[in-house]
Amino acid sequence: MEIQKTIQTERKKVLITGCSSGFGRLTAVGAAKAGFDVVATMRNLAKSEPLKTALAQANVSAQIEELDVTKPESIAKFVEKIGPVDILINNAGILITGSFLDITDKEMRHIFETNYFGQLNLTRAVAKGMIERKRGRIINIASLAGRIGHPFNAAYSASKHALIGFTKSIRVELAPFGIDVISIEPGYHKTEIIRANANQSENFYDRSSPMFEWNRGFLKAFFDEVIPRAAQPEAVVDRILSLLSDEKPKFHYVIGIDAKFATTLQWLGLSGWFERKIIRKIRRATKLENKREAEKKARRKQKCKTEAT
Ligand SMILES: NC(=O)c1ccc[n+]([C@@H]2O[C@H](COP(=O)([O-])OP(=O)(O)OC[C@H]3O[C@@H](n4cnc5c(N)ncnc54)[C@H](OP(=O)(O)O)[C@@H]3O)[C@@H](O)[C@H]2O)c1
Repeated sequence: MEIQKTIQTERKKVLITGCSSGFGRLTAVGAAKAGFDVVATMRNLAKSEPLKTALAQANVSAQIEELDVTKPESIAKFVEKIGPVDILINNAGILITGSFLDITDKEMRHIFETNYFGQLNLTRAVAKGMIERKRGRIINIASLAGRIGHPFNAAYSASKHALIGFTKSIRVELAPFGIDVISIEPGYHKTEIIRANANQSENFYDRSSPMFEWNRGFLKAFFDEVIPRAAQPEAVVDRILSLLSDEKPKFHYVIGIDAKFATTLQWLGLSGWFERKIIRKIRRATKLENKREAEKKARRKQKCKTEAT
């Protein structure tokens, strides 16, 4: 009885954003299974069914709450409502693909509001309590795109670079208070961000843009080369879960073969070689897309001719 009471009083509260799918959902279930007191949040509670089902299947529970990280007023109210947090996992994120020339200001700002300011505002709100209690851990889900450039996703890449810079900086500010700040930097993994949540800029198919053909070529290269090689999300989730109790975490974790390959090349000073390889692949895909479109046009013309005779 006494042991049970001690275990209960020691249950750490883990707050996770973006739990409707992907890493967030899997982490929420994994953390609940590991005995943590999980507050799983999402911006739209109508999307909570898959999480509820996964929790029920695992025979565990979590507190499911609504939280849109782009709304600072609701962040303040929410943090007051849930009380002290031991571990914050800033996971929510979005991707809107398109050349920097075509992507709208609104889209770029939306990416930053979610991937950077959202994480910043929630961290500020939660860190105050951690500072008072002189303990805590903050895990920011950044990306390989925060370490190297990500063509046709410049806004996403810039937001993740900002997040990594933020993480590195506050890590030092918060260390005297016993708070660890950790950056997770995955390469491509099979979650909704590259499936149902993969958005393209509203001007992506604008034929008047000098980037039109290249946008299309990038997308083909992405679907042909990157998506099939994307890893399963469990490697990232396992790392996050181990960090919930790791006594001596590292500052950052690069996860996935693609991410390790790219960061090693960067470390070796071979980023230029890697960029040229990417350009070649996009150029080839752009040519193929142009050829496919020209053939389609020729077929249509031929059909019209045949029908007219
Ligand atoms: N999968 C990868 O290849 C990869 C690689 C590197 C980094 N990441 C990062 O990993 C994190 C999790 O993404 P994922 O891969 O698991 O993709 P995901 O399945 O698309 O999950 C993203 C989550 O963020 C939520 N979200 C979006 N905007 C939000 C907002 N304003 N407030 C609260 N939640 C919001 C989404 O909610 P809705 O369902 O409502 O849209 C969704 O639950 C992101 O930060 C992403 O950038 C992913």
